[in-house]
Amino acid sequence: MQRAAARVLRGARTPPAGTPSATARVPPPRGLLYERHGEPAAVVQLKDLKVAELRDSDVHVKMLAAPINPADINMIQGTYAILSPLPAVGGNEGVGEVLEVGRRVTALKPGDWVIPAGAGVGDSVIQNAANSGVGQAVIQIAKASGIKTINVVRDRPDLPKLVERLMALGADHVITEEMLRKPEMKDIFKSIPKPRLALNCVGGKSTTEMLRHLQPKGTMVTYGGMAKQPVMVPVSTFIFRDVRLRGFWMTQWKKDHAQDQESLTSMMDALCQLIRRGQLTAPACTEVPLQDYKAALEATMKPFTSSKQILLF
Ligand SMILES: NC(=O)c1ccc[n+]([C@@H]2O[C@H](COP(=O)([O-])OP(=O)(O)OC[C@H]3O[C@@H](n4cnc5c(N)ncnc54)[C@H](OP(=O)(O)O)[C@@H]3O)[C@@H](O)[C@H]2O)c1
Repeated sequence: MQRAAARVLRGARTPPAGTPSATARVPPPRGLLYERHGEPAAVVQLKDLKVAELRDSDVHVKMLAAPINPADINMIQGTYAILSPLPAVGGNEGVGEVLEVGRRVTALKPGDWVIPAGAGVGDSVIQNAANSGVGQAVIQIAKASGIKTINVVRDRPDLPKLVERLMALGADHVITEEMLRKPEMKDIFKSIPKPRLALNCVGGKSTTEMLRHLQPKGTMVTYGGMAKQPVMVPVSTFIFRDVRLRGFWMTQWKKDHAQDQESLTSMMDALCQLIRRGQLTAPACTEVPLQDYKAALEATMKPFTSSKQILLF
């Protein structure tokens, strides 16, 4: 049995009459697991698996049948174009039966038969200024949703310390703006898929470089412009990769949803749940007495502070 997010499942159907229900004979969950790459018969082992906690948008699926395809063999050997992070459960196709659905899942119900919509690796997102307050929240929300993050920060003297802090929050990769141009970037995409979403709050050259790593038909959302430089996009990015550029402004989003309190309430509710579970924490803060406001303003304007100045009244 594997935990599968609802979004990877399509084509739900009810099993034919007379088909024995997997729910009725729930065996202990097992999976064909490999902890290192190598010859499949040598490295794959049938192991007991721990089922992940069922979150609101999750679906628990018991696989009923799955083919062994050449791509699966190559993934186990470590020679395929994309590889699952290790340890991994082998296989990408098959049919499964839904055992349980999370609170927010409405399109599926226990007993439905489903097939995976995509390969067995999750989505990923790339973002710049990843150490900002927003960036730290993105890392944690993505982690809680099973989405990998590639986090771009500016180089600085204490870079290893910052990398360690963002990894502890749940970042999968932390790289500098300079790294975006290096051929080593392709190593990252051996274990995670190219991002479908880029989050930009910087602008200028680093944003153009970040855009190069977006999947064809991927979307970049610009929500800030810390470098005070325009976003430059090569013409080929539009023509050959059909990349989509969007903007986001929270103030406008609230105005647009003024009549739809349900959207705001359900978003706040989802965030509060993450906070209660300890999956979303506030960014690093420095408390400053009100009378020291000048020092706080100056600290906010300085580069590489990585800490929110909080005025205490
Ligand atoms: N659109 C919206 O609705 C919305 C809502 C909230 C926030 N925002 C935007 O989101 C961004 C982050 O906000 P925040 O409150 O999370 O910020 P924050 O915690 O104060 O962090 C600021 C970030 O900007 C980076 N930065 C500053 N100057 C830079 C430059 N020249 N080039 C590259 N990076 C630079 C800093 O990196 P260093 O550590 O390298 O200095 C840091 O990561 C801001 O642009 C803000 O305006 C937008």
